[in-house]
This record gives sequence, structure tokens and C-alpha cells, in this order.
Amino acid sequence: MVKLAVLCSGRGSDLQSIIDAIKAGELQAEISIVLTDKPNVQALTRAESADIKNVCVDRKLFATRAEFEAEILKNLGDVDLVVLAGFMRILSPEFVRKFTGRLMNIHPSLLPSFPGAHAHRDVLAYGVKVSGCTVHFVDEGTDSGPIIMQAAVEVKDDDTEETLSARVLEQEHIIYPRAIQLFVEGRLKIDGRHVVIRD
Ligand code: GRF
Repeated sequence: MVKLAVLCSGRGSDLQSIIDAIKAGELQAEISIVLTDKPNVQALTRAESADIKNVCVDRKLFATRAEFEAEILKNLGDVDLVVLAGFMRILSPEFVRKFTGRLMNIHPSLLPSFPGAHAHRDVLAYGVKVSGCTVHFVDEGTDSGPIIMQAAVEVKDDDTEETLSARVLEQEHIIYPRAIQLFVEGRLKIDGRHVVIRD
């Protein structure tokens, strides 16, 4: 069984969609650990309720990013794919290189538009009519790795960050488990900037 580590920082609704897809038999993988960088977050409760091993590696307790990441690595063990699901820390190039082709993220915009930590705010400020979400492999940049899957949603005139985020999240919860299942099936081939989905 393909082993996933899911890294989160907060609410964990993307994590929940992965848990639910596994339970429904739509995703043939197991989550070997849920790891957060903050204590007392909902992602930990969700993992606990699903009987999944969970651990907090509290960033505040580490003087440097290197020490923080060393502790994360110690906890991850032997996983096949590291899934970032609302993990609000930038991982070092050294960390990313250890997991080349085995580290995925979901971002709440249609990349390469609106990277960074405030995608919905930036989308609304810019005035685009379509937004969405992007699952991508992580490279050493920010939100810049090869794109696996995207879904689009309409941006409405009266949208707030909350209403837009809710519409985008619905799509996140559909495409993230699907993208992970493609990885599980060995169907994702990275070719430079392109991710080819094999039959
Ligand atoms: C999602 O919008 C995801 O795209 C972004 O962070 C948010 C996480 O939400 N990376 P949740 O914690 O999974 O509910």
C-alpha cells in the first residue's frame, strides 16, 4: 500500500477529503502520519478521529528551520508521498530535493497566477473572473512546480474571500484525492515543466 504523510497547519479540510476518499475506496493509499507545525489545530483532531497517527512538530520550539525540518524528517519515516495540505511553511531546497517527484501541494488559485499566502485576496483585488485550484509537484520555488491538475470556478461580483474560498475548496476536495490516486497508480510522469498523465 502506498504510504502518505500529510502535512497541515490548521483546519485540515483537504486532509479530510483525502481521509474520506480512502474510506470510500476511491484512493488506494494509507496515511501513515499527519504532521502539523502548530499545536491544537483541527487537522490533528481529524486525524485522531480517523485513528491516524498524528504529531505536532511545533515550529516555535526550534531555533532554526534546519532543526525543525530534521525533526519532521525523523517523524515521516519511510513514506512514498508527502502531501502538503494547507501547510503554511516554506520548505528548504534541501528538504524539497529529498522528495523530488514525491512532494505535492495544493494551491487555491490557477497557477501561475496568484501564488503566495493570500491567493483569494489577490484574486479579488485583481478583478479576474475565473479562479480555481492547482495541484502541483513542489520544486524549490514557491508554488512554481510542475502542474498535475487544475479546476476552475467562477468569481462572482459579490464574492468575499470567504465565499470564493468555499467555492474553490469544493473543487480542492475533488481534485486533490484524484491527483494522489494518479500518483498511486504510477500514472504521473514529470517531463520538465509538464506532468504527463499516462493511460
Ligand atoms: C486550502 O485552500 C489549500 O489550497 C491551501 O490552504 C488551504 C487549506 O485548507 N494550501 P484546509 O486546512 O485543508 O481546510
